[in-house]
Amino acid sequence: MSQEIKTIGVLTSGGDAPGMNAVIRAVVRKALAQGVAVKGIKKGYQGLLNEEIVEMQAASVSDIIQRGGTILGTARCKEFTTSEGQKLGADICKKHGIDGIVVIGGDGSYKGAQALARQGINTIGVPGTIDLDISCTEYSIGFDTAVNTAMQAIDKVRDTSSSHERCSIIEVMGRNAGYLALWCGIANGAEDILLPEKYDYNEQNIINNIIRNRKKGKTHHLIINAEGIGHSTSMARRIEAATGIETRATILGYMQRGGSPTCKDRYFASIMGAYAADLLCSGKSNRVVCYQHGEFVDYDIEEALTMQKEIPEYEYQVSRLLSGNY
Ligand code: ADP
Ligand code: F6P
Repeated sequence: MSQEIKTIGVLTSGGDAPGMNAVIRAVVRKALAQGVAVKGIKKGYQGLLNEEIVEMQAASVSDIIQRGGTILGTARCKEFTTSEGQKLGADICKKHGIDGIVVIGGDGSYKGAQALARQGINTIGVPGTIDLDISCTEYSIGFDTAVNTAMQAIDKVRDTSSSHERCSIIEVMGRNAGYLALWCGIANGAEDILLPEKYDYNEQNIINNIIRNRKKGKTHHLIINAEGIGHSTSMARRIEAATGIETRATILGYMQRGGSPTCKDRYFASIMGAYAADLLCSGKSNRVVCYQHGEFVDYDIEEALTMQKEIPEYEYQVSRLLSGNY
């Protein structure tokens, strides 16, 4: 217990993710229940530097658990990656009486939290990203909603693709990670699933696969391509030229980040938000809330940032087998 905590802040940073509002709600209500005041910091670290700070009451977070996006807004803030920016951020926290901050975001946001902790502000990270790419946790808030949104959109593309006997390349988000692509690939029964972690850039294998499937009588060929590989439109042109089969690219884009969070996202967000508030209110700092082996746990941020995560090999092999790539 390093100091008595009177006021905490909460901010959302990096790409928004469905369920961030449910985290904010849980942080606010769990802290208030312990007699700790809460201030909302708008637009991530940018809003901190601009002193966009508002008092939050229990009622400030009414009617938000079901809403996508983040009521606090979010941003990517270059200035906060500099030591001057971080010192200014810590000074602003002190000026506003903020003893600690819950940072909801991904790995990048955790680095900002780590920098603030080094400046004497207690920080706790909560995983919020649709990419599922935070190494220290098996789950990050937003993934379930995003993957279901993508899956439903891909089902729709499949209908028209089959009707026209086309090949479809559908690009899903994930930055450099292939989790959204893997899950959609399996859940949508794709014929090819391209993951940045596994892709060998041999397009001829895909072309052979399309021709083989067409000879077998398949009317469609669905390729789920991860954003980390990208180039779906030019890939479609090359595949059409090589196979003679009409090929279209669909980039799902930002629709994957929006929408009302699923039950899983609301549940994880509520538990993780409350957990983060408890850690901060008890004077803990420089920790991240994680989900590992069926339990909510917390790790030191430094340790969390050195962890590595890989596409599970068995799941990848199953995806290949079920797509007919064996
Ligand atoms: P995410 O949190 O989803 O990984 P980003 O990587 O864009 O998203 O990071 C969000 C924000 O966190 C950045 O815009 C920046 O303000 C802050 N941030 C990222 N990296 C660092 C760093 N090395 N030091 C301090 N702040 C950082
Ligand atoms: O991290 C979430 C994410 O949606 C990634 O999947 C994507 O690469 C990135 O954010 C896009 O970021 P921006 O909103 O800055 O274009």
